Amino acid sequence: MFRDSYVGKVVLVTGGAGFIGSHLVDRLIADGAKQVIIVDNLFIGSEDNIVDAVAKGAVFYNEDIEYKESLEYIFDVHNVDVVFNLATKALNYSFVNPANAFTTNVTGTVNLLELQRKGKFKSLCHFSTSEVYGSAIYEPMDEAHPKVPTTTYAAGKAAADLAVESYVNMFNVDAFIVRPFNNYGPRQNHKGYLAGIIPITAWRIHNDIAPEIHGEGNQSRDFIYVSDTVDAVVKLFTVMPVGESVNISTDNQCKVKDLLQKILTHYNYQGELVKKEARGADVLGHNASNEKVKSLIEYNLTPFDVGLANTLDWYQAKFSG
Ligand SMILES: NC(=O)c1ccc[n+]([C@@H]2O[C@H](COP(=O)([O-])OP(=O)(O)OC[C@H]3O[C@@H](n4cnc5c(N)ncnc54)[C@H](O)[C@@H]3O)[C@@H](O)[C@H]2O)c1
Repeated sequence: MFRDSYVGKVVLVTGGAGFIGSHLVDRLIADGAKQVIIVDNLFIGSEDNIVDAVAKGAVFYNEDIEYKESLEYIFDVHNVDVVFNLATKALNYSFVNPANAFTTNVTGTVNLLELQRKGKFKSLCHFSTSEVYGSAIYEPMDEAHPKVPTTTYAAGKAAADLAVESYVNMFNVDAFIVRPFNNYGPRQNHKGYLAGIIPITAWRIHNDIAPEIHGEGNQSRDFIYVSDTVDAVVKLFTVMPVGESVNISTDNQCKVKDLLQKILTHYNYQGELVKKEARGADVLGHNASNEKVKSLIEYNLTPFDVGLANTLDWYQAKFSG
């Protein structure tokens, strides 16, 4: 064991009103964290996602991790033991505001590392992304795969990873990195250009708007159910060596065009699928190696068709009010 469990501890989750963060918050509460503190500026997160958590005693701060004064205030009020750092602005935002997509990832993470270096909390679990690897140079991509980010979002995430590693190296802080691949599941944002492919397609079909495909849809992704990611992260917490990173992925490669077909079939959609231009910086393939995570924990994965059906049913219920 590299660190004590978060059970009975004060745990702060940045980005905790977002998709993965809100599921993580629920799990931390269920597992018996002493107190869970959520820091989220609601850039894309929603208070709807944390209604239950707040009812169970989680404390919510609508604050921005890029402002160190905001973080300093929160860490002065609470004796935080553990931080899970998930706050970020979605990849698509980097096509609109490339500079801030970069700085949110870097500045927010460095602000936290500075607080950790000064003894304001003990352990940091930092969320990276498969996007830091860029298009595969070899497959499956393991943790040693070169980082060749193709967007400012991914460049910011890669820089944040390097910041975590350098603070471990220089100041012996207790930090490690989890690197999820593409997540899907309930509570992923469905609104506007920052929406994930599954929720936006579900939303369009529900509103009688033709769903879209970018390019031929031959780009493939490794889709993992959000509760499986959260389960892996909480199990990894005690056993992840300091300074190391670990992929959290499946062996379940799915082409975007095949995913769309599964969604259309689930909703029995008979209308057209609108073809849009491919996005230039989209990486083509993300086939992960999950050997490391399997060697560290008992790794349970939900079959894709089961997780997808749960997710699509959840969105249908949500959109039907
Ligand atoms: N969803 C995926 O498929 C995926 C894949 C790989 C890695 N990740 C990583 O997992 C983490 C969570 O991703 P997600 O899909 O839940 O994203 P999300 O966008 O749903 O959640 C991120 C949250 O951060 C908040 N936020 C943004 N900027 C902030 C700021 N400056 N200060 C405070 N809060 C801020 C947003 O409001 C949002 O609630 C991220 O670090 C992401 O890079 C996600």
